[in-house]
Amino acid sequence: MHDDDFAMVKAHQAAEVSATAVEAILSRRSVRGFLADPVPIELVRHLLDVSARAPSGTNMQPWTGHVVMGETLAKLSEAVVTVAGTDNGRQGYDREYKYYPEEFFEPFLSRRRTVGFGLYDLIGIAKGDRARMREQGARNYTFFDAPVGLIFTIDKRLEIGSWLDYGMFLENFCTAARQYGLHTCAQAAWSTYHQVLRPLLGIADGQTVVCGMALGYEDTSRPENALRTDRAPAASFMTWHD
Ligand SMILES: Cc1cc2nc3c(=O)[nH]c(=O)nc-3n(C[C@H](O)[C@H](O)[C@H](O)COP(=O)(O)O)c2cc1C
Repeated sequence: MHDDDFAMVKAHQAAEVSATAVEAILSRRSVRGFLADPVPIELVRHLLDVSARAPSGTNMQPWTGHVVMGETLAKLSEAVVTVAGTDNGRQGYDREYKYYPEEFFEPFLSRRRTVGFGLYDLIGIAKGDRARMREQGARNYTFFDAPVGLIFTIDKRLEIGSWLDYGMFLENFCTAARQYGLHTCAQAAWSTYHQVLRPLLGIADGQTVVCGMALGYEDTSRPENALRTDRAPAASFMTWHD
């Protein structure tokens, strides 16, 4: 690690520190309600520098993006919340890449339902209450009240391999944040409204909006943050040969 990075680690040692890589990985989860407490800009820069240590095919480092805070974050949120609120059924707005299959199938359908219903149960949204579901969805566009938002982009000419690299960078960001007591939520939701983001952030046509990311300190009083998601054990998802 670079000397500056060591200094950064020391300067921002939070009370709640994940000391090991495994602890950081295990304590990462998607937080959907943040405190207004600011995150120092140099700490955000440091987290991005650390994240960029991710491996990538032939060291291409395909990640690019925007850090938004303060007035810019407020403006961005207002613009997207307004559009999303009037965009009944998302006519005219869609992400530029396919995240999900056209039709869900098992075991993915059940997993998706479990996390969705788990979240709605915690915040008291009844099955079929579309208005409240939309309201919860719209919270994405305030970065769940986080003081820092990130919008990640990728050059459209790059191939699927670079998206693989990108995921490694994003996970680094989420886990490195844990060392400083910070939490994150990766947000594909932002990519749906890339046309709204483009003029506000100066995102060129040659770039695809990959996702957003909320960064900040968890508001532990928010019921949605009690969500804990399951994982299938390795014994079930790998075929073992010995
Ligand atoms: C690339 C990516 C995009 C995501 N987009 C959203 C999103 O737009 N809104 C949201 O609330 N959660 C989003 N999530 C969070 C997932 O729902 C979450 O990771 C999953 O349910 C597992 O829960 P955990 O992160 O708490 O372990 C996203 C996660 C990833 C990796």
